[in-house]
Amino acid sequence: MTAFENKKVFVKTYGCQMNVYDSDRMSDALATKGYSPTDVMDDADLVILNTCHIREKAAEKVYSELGRIRQLKERRAKDGKGEMKIGIAGCVAQAEGQEIIRRAPIVDLVVGPQAYHKLPELLDRTGNGSSVVETDFPVEDKFAALPAAKREVTRKRGVSSFLTVQEGCDKFCTFCVVPYTRGAEMSRPVSQIVAEAERLAEAGVREVTLLGQNVNAYHGEGPDGKDWGLGQLLFRLAEIDGLDRLRYTTSHPRDMDDVLMAAHRDLDIVMPYLHLPVQSGSDKILAAMNRQHSYDDYVRLIERIRTARPDIALSGDFIVGFPGETEADFKDTMRIVREVTYASAYSFKYSPRPGTPAADSKEQVEEAVKSERLQRLQLLLTEQQRAFNASKVGTEMTVLLERKGREPGQLVGKSPWLQAVQVDAPEELIGEIVTVTIDTVGTNSLFGSMIDKPA
Ligand code: SAH
Ligand code: SF4
Ligand code: F3S
Repeated sequence: MTAFENKKVFVKTYGCQMNVYDSDRMSDALATKGYSPTDVMDDADLVILNTCHIREKAAEKVYSELGRIRQLKERRAKDGKGEMKIGIAGCVAQAEGQEIIRRAPIVDLVVGPQAYHKLPELLDRTGNGSSVVETDFPVEDKFAALPAAKREVTRKRGVSSFLTVQEGCDKFCTFCVVPYTRGAEMSRPVSQIVAEAERLAEAGVREVTLLGQNVNAYHGEGPDGKDWGLGQLLFRLAEIDGLDRLRYTTSHPRDMDDVLMAAHRDLDIVMPYLHLPVQSGSDKILAAMNRQHSYDDYVRLIERIRTARPDIALSGDFIVGFPGETEADFKDTMRIVREVTYASAYSFKYSPRPGTPAADSKEQVEEAVKSERLQRLQLLLTEQQRAFNASKVGTEMTVLLERKGREPGQLVGKSPWLQAVQVDAPEELIGEIVTVTIDTVGTNSLFGSMIDKPA
């Protein structure tokens, strides 16, 4: 039974953008049950931790957070404020399942990413000491079953929005938990995505970032009954009135096809920024990671992308200290960074994940060596990011103004290259795309002056 209740939910999100999107969809599902969001955990009748399992300590972080929440829960009960239910969602929920309840009996609900549409119903089965664990991969279409947000809720969330188009991964890189926590690759049908994008645009969203663990492997059913790739999807979304910017993340170098390149070449609405992780520059390590491409394949691919879209900025992910990585292998990573040049990047020490092949390797790299390599790599990547940002000083660019800035009278927006830009502009310009000249560059953002207000 789903009674309408007037309750509050607090959602804390860890991990990737897909979790950010999922948290909103969970809130939307709970809204149908009378739950409204709160930023204050103490006030919440329901606390959901939407967790990430990608690297070490992710699960431990969840357990220590649960320790703090237990005190709140007990205090709330003592103060007669009613029961505080606790749910664990996301990739730790999927990976740990029942183990979470065993270690933290205060948890009422463990729900894996494939079952979010069942959230209200699952919640009804909890309480008074009974807990529920749902980590199956059901066959029904979760996305079709999840309710859409109300127009004013979408508007409040901002002018830039995520939209998951693809979930799961079949690539099985030997270091990665995603194929286990998110399951097999699936793509949403084109019509469903178009309808969601139209709803977002209608509510005032100007920029949509298409999401998938392997977004450029997208192959959803098109209106013609055929499988459409991501490129074809971008061409279709570009026709939607009111949408001005499209992005997508995260891509795999193996899945950059010609139509996607053409989308970068032909569509101004597709922003000139591409997150294309390479992980390592060593062919030996790339093979051991099961990335299925070489150093040269990647560099040639980057050349093709830059030919299609000369002003494109690249971003990447790197792992140092993968099992068997020697100093020479690491130098190949430094070499590929120098050869490609990145506008921004994320880099990590390899973290053995239980159940993944690389975790069992006998050739684990010492922690101190990992730290030292990470430091060298990050120095180089930071230098490249600074140079990229500095290259924009004195240039003109469009900025989508998203929210209020640090200082009064200031707004913050995004450049086409995903840089944060601070601009002196009145609040009513939030949601507009303005032209600015970049005056200076700070550590984390650019500072620009508006030269052209929107028409
Ligand atoms: N699908 C994307 C990556 C998703 S995970 C791709 O194929 O590129 C995000 C990033 O986390 C990865 O790119 C990788 O750099 C990092 N990562 C994943 N597993 C990791 C591990 N076991 N240890 C360290 N970093 C890891
Ligand atoms: Fe993980 Fe990405 Fe590899 Fe898939 S392609 S296994 S998500 S790193
Ligand atoms: Fe983390 Fe799961 Fe995303 S492991 S990175 S939340 S897909």
